[in-house]
Amino acid sequence: MAVTIEFKSDIAVVTVDNPPVNALSQSVRQDLWKAVERLDAEPSVRAVVLICEGRTFMAGADVNEFGKPPLPPHLPDLIARIETATKPWIAAIHGSALGGGFEVALGCRFRIAVSSASVGLPEVRLGIVPGAGGSVRLPRLIGPALATDMVTTGTPVTAAKARSQGLIDAIIEGDLETGAIDFARAAVDQCLPLPLRQRSVPVVDATFWEATEKAVASRAKREDAPLRALACVRKAAESDFDTAMAFERRTFLELRSSPQASALRHVYFAERSATRPPELAGIEPRPIRSAAVVGGGTMGAGIAAALRDAGLPVTLVERDEVAVERGLSNLRSIFESAVKRGRTTSETAAERLSGIIGTTDYGVLARVDIVIEAVFEDLDVKREVFGKLSTICRSDAVLATNTSYLNPEQISAGIKHPERFVGLHFFSPAHAMKLLEIVPTAQTSPATVATGFALARMLKKIPVRAGICDGFIGNRILKVTRAQAERLLLAGATPWAVDTAMRALGLPMGPFEAQDLGGLDIAAFQRRAARVRGETPFAPIADRLCALGRFGQKSGGGWYDYAKGDKRTPRPSEIVAGIIAEEARETSQRKWDEASIIDCIALPMVNEATKILHEKIALRAEDIDLVEIHGYGFPRWRGGLMHYAEERGIAGVVAALERLVAEGLAEDPSDLLRRSAESGQFVSRD
Ligand code: NAI
Repeated sequence: MAVTIEFKSDIAVVTVDNPPVNALSQSVRQDLWKAVERLDAEPSVRAVVLICEGRTFMAGADVNEFGKPPLPPHLPDLIARIETATKPWIAAIHGSALGGGFEVALGCRFRIAVSSASVGLPEVRLGIVPGAGGSVRLPRLIGPALATDMVTTGTPVTAAKARSQGLIDAIIEGDLETGAIDFARAAVDQCLPLPLRQRSVPVVDATFWEATEKAVASRAKREDAPLRALACVRKAAESDFDTAMAFERRTFLELRSSPQASALRHVYFAERSATRPPELAGIEPRPIRSAAVVGGGTMGAGIAAALRDAGLPVTLVERDEVAVERGLSNLRSIFESAVKRGRTTSETAAERLSGIIGTTDYGVLARVDIVIEAVFEDLDVKREVFGKLSTICRSDAVLATNTSYLNPEQISAGIKHPERFVGLHFFSPAHAMKLLEIVPTAQTSPATVATGFALARMLKKIPVRAGICDGFIGNRILKVTRAQAERLLLAGATPWAVDTAMRALGLPMGPFEAQDLGGLDIAAFQRRAARVRGETPFAPIADRLCALGRFGQKSGGGWYDYAKGDKRTPRPSEIVAGIIAEEARETSQRKWDEASIIDCIALPMVNEATKILHEKIALRAEDIDLVEIHGYGFPRWRGGLMHYAEERGIAGVVAALERLVAEGLAEDPSDLLRRSAESGQFVSRD
């Protein structure tokens, strides 16, 4: 039985037990319905406590029922049944009450929670709105302003905040069930509050809705659900309960089958399975209780901060005392800026910093569980570091490199116990960016790979396994992005038009603005190295800009000009336009609209991604989606690069690519892309 009833004299305790997260599956809904009926008919019962077994309160809808027609009793009806029961129901919350789970709690007369609990309506994150009265009851409980914030952002609220906002009626210290029974007894002796459906929504200022709409639209960028959620709260404020319920339900059903919701669901499932990929099932990771980072520059400091945020003691090794001080000061800046932005308290920041030891002495690494190297991108320097680490560290300590472009096989050649070596490619800023590419060599043991994934879980990052090639998954695709962007310039587009089009696709920044922000010098350095290896990287215009010292914002100019007093606002540059014109002399020019610019960049990226899949550099199309979303700002609501291509239709992608090929603007569609066009989805090699 998923739902059981116990009688504690005059209080009934209804317990839901549906592991792992007490999802509101059909059987739970059915049993709860029966429980209401039965307890309404039980004369000795004065109130009902609704509580859950396991690690959490009802955490929402059953994800296995997503996309299927729901079976009765429908959740809105069940909640109405609880709300109109003759006995008051009290939701006793531990863990999290999210989505449908919290909507059930809103149908109860009271809500109480343990202090570690959280509540929320995260539906917008899946491209939908609450479907069982959340947007209608919430403003009746806490007013339109707070309700709007909660429903349009989807951010969960901690118990303490929930108590102060009036979302819950009490925080229970000690045993929840006992506390809930005591609360219930005290409550029924008092005058009961009205059920939410009978309350009215507090009136707001006339300008409230317009102002909020503007704020929500600008935050949501091109996502539909937040504005639709706002419309639901507004409807709740401006019409009666039943009309608002019908409006919310209509909106919910409409959005549920929308392309954005399907993309966001796709990402949700991809993220859920990313941390425990099937190929590592049953493989035990090594325990990680302490960590070290070698190199305290941009990446090393960010990685050390991420490790500290996960609670690990961290040793930071640098090459001399001055560099140790600089590394520690980089870390201080990271935590100070987190305090300034309100992301953490100064106490927490101080605690994080106190857990870091800076040193030049590799000897202290003898007992550490994992070492992550983030020194200069230079093979000899890295090899020297691993030479030392491989003799000093324990033979089972994981040794990882954060290299972006060097070959991990070469970095680890000759080290002792090469099975414990792995690439862990973080993204900048490493304490904030979610992506972690995990790059095994041929000798890396499965346990070491599993440890990389376990570390990602500890750091709350999204791990993706990547094979070895130039740039792994993400930077290899980035090269295509940049090359295509330059091809567009040679064929008649301007940097401004290209950036605007890519923002229209949903990226936070276009490729040229992004290069100006990050600096053109890093890529120039890599191109030089590639030319030494005999390769011919394509960046005719970027090469000329670098030759002029135009490295981007930091040098006062790059793809754009920047004014002295305003180093951040890009302005189209006459100098760059002149260089483009010179370089484009031999190329035929055409007119570019937004859609064709997007095609000329995004579709060759898709093509490259299929080669990456074919070579098993990425194991799954959804891994590429996660890389693009979490490492490169591809819009989540488009589901990532590969989902975008599937939605568009892979056959259409092939046809559009062929047109670009005919104009000399793209490479031929790969075999895998052509084969995938037949089935409409990306097939792997075999
Ligand atoms: P950085 O130049 O900011 O920092 C490198 C640090 O390593 C310096 O503080 C230097 O003093 C230290 N160092 C050099 N040799 C050392 C040694 N033998 N022992 C101890 N410390 C030593 O460089 P950044 O940007 O932090 O890059 C580090 C690594 O991370 C590189 O391999 C780079 O390719 C990779 N990476 C960089 C990203 C970025 O956006 N900057 C992104 C992802 C990876």
